[in-house]
Parts: sequence; C-alpha cells; structure tokens
Amino acid sequence: MSSATTPNSPPPVYVSQHPLVLHKLALLRSIHTEPKKFREMVHEISQLLFYEATKDLKLAPLTVETPLSSCPGYEVAERIGLMPILRAGLGMSEAILGMLPVAHVWHLGLYRDHETLKPVTYYNKLPDHPEIDLSLVIDPMLATGGSAVAAVNILKRWGAIRIKFLGLIAAPEGVQALTSAHPDVPIHLAAIDNHLDEHGYIVPGLGDAGDRQFGTG
Ligand code: PRP
Ligand code: URA
Repeated sequence: MSSATTPNSPPPVYVSQHPLVLHKLALLRSIHTEPKKFREMVHEISQLLFYEATKDLKLAPLTVETPLSSCPGYEVAERIGLMPILRAGLGMSEAILGMLPVAHVWHLGLYRDHETLKPVTYYNKLPDHPEIDLSLVIDPMLATGGSAVAAVNILKRWGAIRIKFLGLIAAPEGVQALTSAHPDVPIHLAAIDNHLDEHGYIVPGLGDAGDRQFGTG
C-alpha cells in the first residue's frame, strides 16, 4: 500500500499496491468485462481494500474452545457502520458485509446532477443515534468529490467521529476535494487516475460504475 503524504502528516490517502488488486483492477476497467464479471471484480477488490483499511481495528481477547482444548483468541471490539452511496456503492457494501456480517449498513441515496455535477440527496437511512466506533463511506468512484464530501458532512452532523472513505478509483480532483474538506478522513483506493473529462468522468477510469454493475448503460 502506498501513502501519498509527507512523513510528518497523518497518512490520509492509501493506494493499494497489492498484486491481486492490480490484476483485478485491469479486469474491472476493461470495456470487454460484462456486468456479471464486473460485479465479481467490484466484490473481490472491495474485500481486499477493506482488509487493508481495517488493519488498525481494535481487538478484545477471548478464549476459544477447539475440539482439543481451549486457547486464547480475539474478536473485533469495534462497532462498524457502512454508508454505501447509492447506487454504485451497493456492490461494495455487500462484499464488505460478507466479511463483517455484524456491521451496520446505512444506505445514502445521492446522485450527481448531470448539469452541475453537484450531489443531490434522495434517501438517508441513518439511525437516530451514532452508537458506532468507525464509519466507512463506500463509493467506487471519487470523481469531483462532491458526493463523498456530502456523505462525510452528513455523517459528521449526525455525530460520527472516526470516518474512513473506501473507493475503487479516484480522480486527483476528488482526492483534493475530500482531503481539503475532511483532512481527518483517511482514503483507501485501488487507483488514482489521470484527470476528469468535461462530463466529470474519471479518465481512464472504468466508465459509469452504477451502469456497469446493473446493466443500465
Ligand atoms: C457516481 C458515483 C459517485 C459519484 C461520484 O454516482 O457512484 O456516487 O458519481 O462523483 P462525484 O465525486 O463527482 O460526486 P452517480 O451520480 O452516477 O449515481 P449512480 O450511482 O446512481 O449511478
Ligand atoms: N461516476 C462514475 O460512475 N464514473 C465516473 O467516472 C465518475 C463518476
């Protein structure tokens, strides 16, 4: 994993260098990858990034009974909330929930207005009280960063304290927007690409992550 920060600052941007992530990322990007395979790649890369993004989780000791004897073990001692941004974040959150079934999931409906590229909120399933230790905002694409900044704003207003962003591909513009607005939020990615085109798409990117997962392109 590489971090795009100076040695003295907290490392907010991690880009995975894991060979499996890089291999699967090429398949994800390819125009020849059909929705079924595309969803599989979203799933597998999300699990690998989640694994890397949670290496600082706190553990509590416990005792395990094996068929032969008892031995010391551990369990995750933190309550984790996932905030997938609809709709493209859905495939990622399902993959993560597969690894951590006790996580809470708070769906957040945001879409980008095609003219302004500003996020519009249409659904918010946050519970009343933030009884959680770590919140993860989940969205495959960090383009202008408007959606991610809006999601973190919502979480902070609600009372979330420790927040991370988990995405697949970012544009430099999106990374800049999110780190400027929320320098306390680490960002975990599979790639930072070249630039945004005039329609706000990441180049080279993968196209529209929602359309490619759900066959609506
Ligand atoms: C995409 C993507 C992000 C957003 C990123 O969603 O999944 O949520 O755009 O762009 P931004 O960084 O410029 O805000 P989209 O609006 O296409 O909605 P969808 O997931 O419903 O297709
Ligand atoms: N949303 C996407 O799905 N793809 C992009 O490249 C940018 C925003």
